[in-house]
Amino acid sequence: MEKKHTLSVMLMVVLLSISIHCIRTESRTLMEADTRRNLLANGLGMTPPMGWNSWNHFFCQINETIIKEAADALVSTGLSEVGYKYVNIDDCWAEYDRDAEGYLVPNKVTFPSGIKALADYVHSKGLKLGIYSDAGYRTCSTQMPGSLGYEQKDAQTFASWGIDYLKYDNCNNGDLKPMERYPEMTRALMSTGRPIFVSLCEWGDMHPALWGDRLGNSWRTTNDIQDTWESMISRADQNEAYAVYARPGGWNDPDMLEVGNGGMTTDEYIVHFSIWAISKAPLLVGCDVRKMANDTLTILSNKEVIAINQDPLGVQAKKVRMEGDVEIWAGPLSGYRTVVVLLNRSLNNTYPITAEWDDLGIPPKTAVEAREPWKHVTLEKIFVNKLRAKVRGHSCRMFVLTPVSQSG
Ligand SMILES: *[C@@H]1O[C@H](CO)[C@@H](O)[C@H](O)[C@H]1NC(C)=O
Ligand SMILES: *[C@@H]1O[C@H](CO)[C@@H](O)[C@H](O)[C@H]1NC(C)=O
Ligand SMILES: *[C@@H]1O[C@H](CO)[C@@H](O)[C@H](O)[C@H]1NC(C)=O
Ligand SMILES: *[C@@H]1O[C@H](CO)[C@@H](O)[C@H](O)[C@H]1NC(C)=O
Repeated sequence: MEKKHTLSVMLMVVLLSISIHCIRTESRTLMEADTRRNLLANGLGMTPPMGWNSWNHFFCQINETIIKEAADALVSTGLSEVGYKYVNIDDCWAEYDRDAEGYLVPNKVTFPSGIKALADYVHSKGLKLGIYSDAGYRTCSTQMPGSLGYEQKDAQTFASWGIDYLKYDNCNNGDLKPMERYPEMTRALMSTGRPIFVSLCEWGDMHPALWGDRLGNSWRTTNDIQDTWESMISRADQNEAYAVYARPGGWNDPDMLEVGNGGMTTDEYIVHFSIWAISKAPLLVGCDVRKMANDTLTILSNKEVIAINQDPLGVQAKKVRMEGDVEIWAGPLSGYRTVVVLLNRSLNNTYPITAEWDDLGIPPKTAVEAREPWKHVTLEKIFVNKLRAKVRGHSCRMFVLTPVSQSG
């Protein structure tokens, strides 16, 4: 009797604490939603941003001529037409010191006309202008001041120039935690009333996927990319771990594109662009768009692959199977479609690649039509339960699977 009583009391305590926990979790979720609404409700980034950025090709060697010519080239090559709208200036655009009133000053030698004039020029071409600063005392190049402690002034400056996008870096931060540095700038940008895309460049140090959605429209999940296969593929891997956190308005960012910079083969650049596209990563071209090889332009302007990146469902693809050097990445698209990438990371191993519906999350026995966006062809064969294909080393094949009625 006594024992039974104790037992039921214990049971009640357990049930009670479970329900308290549920209430707590629910109210925390509500609070988080509120915070998000308060701090970052700019309505931007409903699909991943697309554009160009100066860093991967030019590093600090930039000036207003290069930025203007890049804008011209986005238009003349047709890249702007397929979605690349942001022209983003990276580090090294400002004078070494602030002016006497504490404002950032465009570099007088390399940006003699100022950033406002550049914004007007870029806007006149139907494009948007992005700029760069740092949540620290100086930027990564140390050539210009960072915004720490000057968030309100700098946000107002950017808004008054007509800036549309801010990449906010993480160097020289005095060992202050991101949470002590990043919210201030987001608040300051919001208070200007100008919609400015917020790109948090915290390098993934403190897992920004877990908190970035309240402060930014995208957050870097990795250190800087380099123009090599190893660098590219390892950033793809690191970014994949956070797939569940990506969604319209807030995206994981494995860093900008190296396509066209010369360090990888065409097959490898197709892998790079394919994984970035299905990962719903920002598509920020990083080559010299004024002088692109044909295959570079062909990769960057593939409308079918871009449409996968820009799909309104906004779900980041994940690795669904790994066997040795062979991987299958997949994710849902709107219209009950599924995108699959069969990736061969090997240079010398042999594995057959078979994508099973079970791995892809497609109901068994479903018949699908398979389209290859890189080849612009729909395969004649209807696939049921699995799709098998051969893939060269360091290359991939992408398929978009659409269910079809079996009788038809
Ligand atoms: C920008 O750099 C290019 C190439 O180095 C040079 O030809 C051009 O005159 C420079 N323009 C300005 C405004 O510094
Ligand atoms: C690049 O493409 C253009 C237009 O399609 C073509 O005229 C030119 O011959 C191509 N160049 C090379 C090197 O393939
Ligand atoms: C080929 O495979 C062997 C054994 O798996 C590996 O040690 C070697 O690095 C591979 N070579 C290349 C070029 O990938
Ligand atoms: C992966 O690439 C290697 C090297 O080119 C090749 O031997 C192998 O057959 C490929 N694997 C698949 C599954 O196609």
